[in-house]
Amino acid sequence: MQIIDFHSHVLPAMDDGSRSTEQSVEMLRAAAGQGVTLMAATPHFYAHREAPDAFLKRRERCLSSLLACDLSNTPALRVGAEVYFYRGMSRTEELRALVLEGTDLLLVEMPFEAWSSGMLDELRQLRSLQKVRVVLAHVERYFQRENDALINEAMEDGFLIQCNAEAFRPHFARRVWNMMAARQIDFIGSDCHNTTSRAPNVGVAAQRITKRLGEDAFSRLQIHGMHVMGLEDI
Ligand SMILES: [Fe+2]
Repeated sequence: MQIIDFHSHVLPAMDDGSRSTEQSVEMLRAAAGQGVTLMAATPHFYAHREAPDAFLKRRERCLSSLLACDLSNTPALRVGAEVYFYRGMSRTEELRALVLEGTDLLLVEMPFEAWSSGMLDELRQLRSLQKVRVVLAHVERYFQRENDALINEAMEDGFLIQCNAEAFRPHFARRVWNMMAARQIDFIGSDCHNTTSRAPNVGVAAQRITKRLGEDAFSRLQIHGMHVMGLEDI
C-alpha cells in the first residue's frame, strides 16, 4: 500500500522548514521508517513576498540540492506549494504552476481569522478560472464556531480536505474524528518542518486511526488519496 504524506516542508533552506540537505534527508528517512512512500514537498508560498516564477526557480534549486543526496530508501517526492490565501488569487494565472506535480491539486492555507463567504467565493473562482482542484490545508486549525458552517459548505461544494497527522490525538477535536469516520478527509499530512518539534508523524496517525476506527480506515484513506491524485495504488 502507498502511504502519502500530503503536506511537508522538507525541501532544504526553502522556507521555515528544513534548514539543510542533511536535515531533509533525516526527515525523509524518518517518514520512510513510518511507512510513508510518497511525500508532497509543499513549501510556503506568500504572494505578497515573492512572485510565483521566482518561487519556482528557488524551489528548483532547493530540490536539485536534495536530489544530489543519497535518497535510497526514502519516499518518492513530488513538489508543490502551500499557497497562502489572498484576495484576488483567483485571477493569478501563475498559481496554476504551483499545483502538486503531476496533478491539478493546489494546497491552500486559509487565514486564521474567521472565514467569510467571500473567501469561499474567491476559492470557487480560483477553481473555475485556473482549473485547479483546491485542497484546504490543515482544516482542523480552523474549527471554531464562526467557521463551522463555511467548512461544511466548502466540503459540500467539493473542496478537498487535508488534516495534519497531529490532529488525530485521542482528546483533540471530536470533529476531526467524525470527519474521518464519515470519509470527509481526503489527505493526511505531517506538515513536518524538522525532525524534532514538528517531525514526520503520519505513522503515529496511522496507528491511532487504525486503533479507533478499525483496520481498514487508514488504508481506505490512502487508496482514496491515490485515486484523487490520479494514481493507481500498488
Ligand atoms: Fe505547512
